Amino acid sequence: MSSSARRASGAAPSEIDGAAPGARVPNLLGPSFDSVAPVRGPAPSVDPVVRIEHVGKRFGDGPLVLDDISLDIAPGEFVCLLGASGCGKSTLLNLIAGLDRPTAGVIQTPSAGSAVMFQESALMPWLTARRNVELALRLRGVPRSERRDKALVLLATVNLADAAEKRPHELSGGMRQRVALARALAQDRPVLLMDEPFAALDAITRDLLHEELERVWRATGRTIVFVTHNVREAARLGQRVVLLGSRPGRVVQEWRIAKTTGRRIESPEVAALSVEITDQLRKEIRRNAA
Ligand SMILES: Nc1ncnc2c1ncn2[C@@H]1O[C@H](COP(=O)(O)OP(=O)(O)O)[C@@H](O)[C@H]1O
Ligand SMILES: [Mg+2]
Repeated sequence: MSSSARRASGAAPSEIDGAAPGARVPNLLGPSFDSVAPVRGPAPSVDPVVRIEHVGKRFGDGPLVLDDISLDIAPGEFVCLLGASGCGKSTLLNLIAGLDRPTAGVIQTPSAGSAVMFQESALMPWLTARRNVELALRLRGVPRSERRDKALVLLATVNLADAAEKRPHELSGGMRQRVALARALAQDRPVLLMDEPFAALDAITRDLLHEELERVWRATGRTIVFVTHNVREAARLGQRVVLLGSRPGRVVQEWRIAKTTGRRIESPEVAALSVEITDQLRKEIRRNAA
């Protein structure tokens, strides 16, 4: 599989190939408690779909925002990037999306690119939900005759078939984010990058959207990189949680979740992992304040 690389000048090239789209990552680590296991040893021996090697980022002559981030993301993996506000999560996601370039290191992504979803749905207000999804299909080159049916299937995938002919202002915040998810899926990219997509939603709607997203992830085999500052959300959703420290942003610790089925925000194993992650996050915040 060909891939595109964004590298800082002087960095050595490297290759990723053979990553099978939609392949699932085996859970190599057994549970230590309540199905939650900290990462130990090397990463799974699957060719990564996204490879981040020693990436650093600085804006102009400002402070270092990201420092020496290395991360391999396997095809089909659901990775949550977790960290305090301002630690550089969006900066890292934008680098993976190819919206910006690293100051140091290399980022390799599939040549087919990524779909990105933000906190705001950014739908075209004058278009119906269906037409918003159709627009993404048109940009992808899907023939006009197929767009309507494909858009309806995608809206059904996010449980929004009944709202296909509604305009964004007629939809709730949760429904708008569902349309945004359908539009992101319409781009048919192997990697879906999500930047705090549910942060503006109320807790009940967010719970529902977590279920939807998990179902879509299992059904589509997409690789998902989900950015959040919400520890519970990361513990609820991630197959792997990567904690970023602040100033500069760097990887502090990772957790791999052995059993991801049947989780809910109030599940004991989600609570247990949240406590462990929060302890680590507090240490990081204290270290920064010192
Ligand atoms: N385009 C930019 N120019 C200058 N500084 C930026 C830019 N984008 C982000 N930053 C700075 O980088 C740091 C990390 O920002 P960001 O990635 O948005 O954090 P997060 O998403 O974790 O809240 C912040 O200090 C922010 O001010
Ligand atoms: Mg951000």
